[in-house]
Amino acid sequence: MARKIIIDTDPGQDDAVAILLALASPELRVLGITAVAGNVPLALTQLNARKIVELAGRTDVPVFAGCDSPLARGLVTAEHVHGKTGLDGIDLPDPTLALQARHGVDFIIDTLRGEPAGTVTLVPIGPLTNIASAFRRAPDIVGRVERIVLMGGAYFEVGNITPAAEFNIHVDPEAAKIVFAAGVPLVVLPLDATHKALTSRGWVETMRALPGRCGQAVAGWTDSFERFDKDKYGNQGAPLHDPCTIAWLLRPALFVGREINVEIETRGEFTTGMTVADWWRVSGRPANALFINDLGRDGLFDLLSERIARLP
Ligand code: BDR
Ligand code: CA
Repeated sequence: MARKIIIDTDPGQDDAVAILLALASPELRVLGITAVAGNVPLALTQLNARKIVELAGRTDVPVFAGCDSPLARGLVTAEHVHGKTGLDGIDLPDPTLALQARHGVDFIIDTLRGEPAGTVTLVPIGPLTNIASAFRRAPDIVGRVERIVLMGGAYFEVGNITPAAEFNIHVDPEAAKIVFAAGVPLVVLPLDATHKALTSRGWVETMRALPGRCGQAVAGWTDSFERFDKDKYGNQGAPLHDPCTIAWLLRPALFVGREINVEIETRGEFTTGMTVADWWRVSGRPANALFINDLGRDGLFDLLSERIARLP
């Protein structure tokens, strides 16, 4: 039976590839997509989510708008990485798929209450505002979540938006603190792993050569996204951060990590949004996350190629 997931997202080119990977995978049933403010404001992330679903020909998947700002701070965005639209790299038509009327947080709560306990996995690939809001408003749903598989944080790789913090956690550290403390089985795909998920020129050209429109889109997004990392890190290739979450669900054997304690810094002078990962288990604090630090790059990109080729 397919695993039921909700993708919580701020698309984002790498979010878009993650959504396509999920929609192309029969092992997963995407119950809905909830948009959150992050890479760009909510008005754009919910629009982008609808464009992506429509591109994949999957207008049966409902898209909801969630929170438009972090729990306790002003929104920080990342147009410098993702472009003005959040999805620069290819022009997609305005979607015909309507935004759902229900708030994204209500959808998360209602779904977790409506489905049998322990059968819905949450896949947050943006700031954790929607998930934390749902947990705060409806504490009864926390114990019903099967697992959370999120992209966020960094430890040995340190930060990409501040010297200490990764973007998704930095944008809403109070939300991250709630999620990491919730007691839900948690898989964390931090920069330590996702910076190894770098596209190659050959792979991008394989995507471009696919007969379908989704392959073209992945190539266009990746080209646009790559520019930033090349300037910043000198890397060839774009890191496909967010698809690592879906790939973990499909092929966990491609990933290596440790069950450790991870705390979120919310009051640091220079370190707010840092994921304080007790990699060496020196704190005595109980493990609350499987923190991934390595992945099999070739297997990941083979999986992506095989799945994206199935899409229109
Ligand atoms: C994360 O931040 C966003 O810019 C990406 O979509 C990814 O979720 C990487 O730090
Ligand atoms: Ca994202």
